[in-house]
Amino acid sequence: MTKLSPSVLSADFACLAESCRSVLEAGADMIHYDVMDGHFVDNISFGLPVLESLKKALPQAIYDVHLMITHPLRYAADFAKAGADYITFHVETTDDIQQTIDAIRAAGCKPGMSLKPDTPVEALFPWLDQLSLVLVMGVEPGHGGQAFLNSALDKLAALRAECRRRGLGEMLLSVDGGVKLGTTGPACVAAGANLLVAGSAVFCAQDKAKAVAEFRSL
Ligand code: DX5
Ligand code: ZN
Repeated sequence: MTKLSPSVLSADFACLAESCRSVLEAGADMIHYDVMDGHFVDNISFGLPVLESLKKALPQAIYDVHLMITHPLRYAADFAKAGADYITFHVETTDDIQQTIDAIRAAGCKPGMSLKPDTPVEALFPWLDQLSLVLVMGVEPGHGGQAFLNSALDKLAALRAECRRRGLGEMLLSVDGGVKLGTTGPACVAAGANLLVAGSAVFCAQDKAKAVAEFRSL
């Protein structure tokens, strides 16, 4: 079964915990939490205190934190403390990558890495064996509701093949941005994704529970 991590970037922040509760009850596997610093990407979203509040309201949920920030190393331990389970950072960061992976692990979280659309997939290969999750961006990071870039499908296929070659059967191969039911979602699964991140396709759906169930059956 395909796993689903709804991105709360598209949720109604006035009732964030309730929105998360409803998608989790509908079967969502985790909550995707997009952190943007207005520097690594051109947008600002939310940070540590909101995650702390969510964790307090929904302590059993699994939090899949996506750091689109310039200094993931500086904040890894803080996000772990705030409630993160997975912490994904970008290979384009200027922080030391090995130190960042080590810091995430030392803080008790599972490390993930992501890459922007223009970054070749091979940039992740040196780190693959140390990761629990790889996140392919289907859009330029920074905003929800953008159109999917088909180049992400080739990246997913290349990562799936590389993981298979290395015997990394447990790897969560995730895709984020522009993932929709009926079109890009099934294409991502066919290309090798086993964890779909969807923001607008879940939180802007008329029937969120139905959208969650349909994503998980892809
Ligand atoms: C984009 C974020 C995504 C975003 C996806 O930078 O990382 O998680 O919320 O939104 P949709 O699914 O609407 O493209
Ligand atoms: Zn994201």
